[in-house]
Amino acid sequence: MRQSRTASDTRAALDCFAALAMTRKGPSPMFDKAVARSVDQIIAISRAYAGDARDGKVDFGIGVYKDETGLTPVMRAVKAAEQRLIDEQRTKTYVGVGGDQKFVELFAREVLPDHKFGEDVVGIQAVGGSGAVRVLAELAKSLSPEVTFWLPDPTWPNHRAILGAVGVGMANYPYPKFDAEPDIDAILCALDGAKQGDCVVLHGACHNPTGIDPSLDDLARLTEGIVARGLIPFVDSAYIGFGAGWRKDAERVQVIADRAPEMLLALSCSKNFGIYRERTGAALLVGKERDLAPAFSNLLTVARANYSMPPDHGASIVRTIFENPELREHWLSELADIRDRINANRTALSLALARIKQDRDWTYIDRGQGMFSLIDVTPEAATRLREEEAVYIIPDGRMNIASLDASKADEVAAKLATAL
Ligand SMILES: Cc1ncc(COP(=O)(O)O)c(C=O)c1O
Repeated sequence: MRQSRTASDTRAALDCFAALAMTRKGPSPMFDKAVARSVDQIIAISRAYAGDARDGKVDFGIGVYKDETGLTPVMRAVKAAEQRLIDEQRTKTYVGVGGDQKFVELFAREVLPDHKFGEDVVGIQAVGGSGAVRVLAELAKSLSPEVTFWLPDPTWPNHRAILGAVGVGMANYPYPKFDAEPDIDAILCALDGAKQGDCVVLHGACHNPTGIDPSLDDLARLTEGIVARGLIPFVDSAYIGFGAGWRKDAERVQVIADRAPEMLLALSCSKNFGIYRERTGAALLVGKERDLAPAFSNLLTVARANYSMPPDHGASIVRTIFENPELREHWLSELADIRDRINANRTALSLALARIKQDRDWTYIDRGQGMFSLIDVTPEAATRLREEEAVYIIPDGRMNIASLDASKADEVAAKLATAL
């Protein structure tokens, strides 16, 4: 039997090995070439957490919102929309390659109200935000085979996995990890190394993993610098509504769209509607100064060759909520409750850390946007936290603060402090 490539391969992969050894019927010219590997570190940590029987375990791992009981609840507005769908839906025939275009239109209008749908913005329903990143990257690669994607360092690890799978070039621009503002001059200086037509990945709101967003003025200046260099913003926005509010977070995307003659926009409904497993998002092409139709037809071709047509349910839920002012208000107030809880958790954790470890400024955790902040630990210390204290954080130090039980902030901070 082949050996795992690294010691960090998950228990799941080893279990998988054991199962294969028991059921193996004969040598394979293909499958025997496979070396077991974990899907990615975030998924591996989430599986390890689920399998941990210790009381008081703390889950700062995967990026899902949890309430104080540890549940990721179904929003009441979502339940109400689902009930309407059950009552009213008359067919389950295919939704078409571009998906539910009414959903795409309403979502685009929410985020970019000054852009005319069908002219200044076009797009398709996507299989979550990840699927949107994937099809948009494939489109970019098919139109500009030499394109390089410039990513903030750090960024969401799946950016590199998706872009690597698509086969585009990748390069980094600097991004602060803890308590600094993004340095726009330093970012633009790095982008001086980009060639015309390259894509610059910008997190729309609530940067993952740092929780640090540039101010609107800095974002405007950054976009102008990107455009001046002949580069194209590739905006990934998975957390609209988790930072400063639904409208305010969307304004960040608008600041970029108002200044860019063309841009690609990946949107997700996983977090802000709590419909993670329904795989709902949108892949949009935006540009008041461009004819978007030819590229849109290519985007449809990419989708068709990938999965043919998207699933319906999640997009129908979101469309139903956007179409009904009452449901929309209801959903917005639930979203505000989620945001308030995350912000209360941020305050509680930063105060608790300040009580225990006074030699550092912890206010950056309180100021952070969305679910994530980084903490300054080594991967080895993160492993120790997991093994000895049952506190699960990502090895790069990313913590999902949304899942903290604020009443235990002091206890959790004391455990975190052991790793600093
Ligand atoms: C930056 C970023 N983009 C995109 C996504 C994709 O989310 P999903 O595919 O679950 O909609 C995530 C989710 O973690 C994310 O953090």
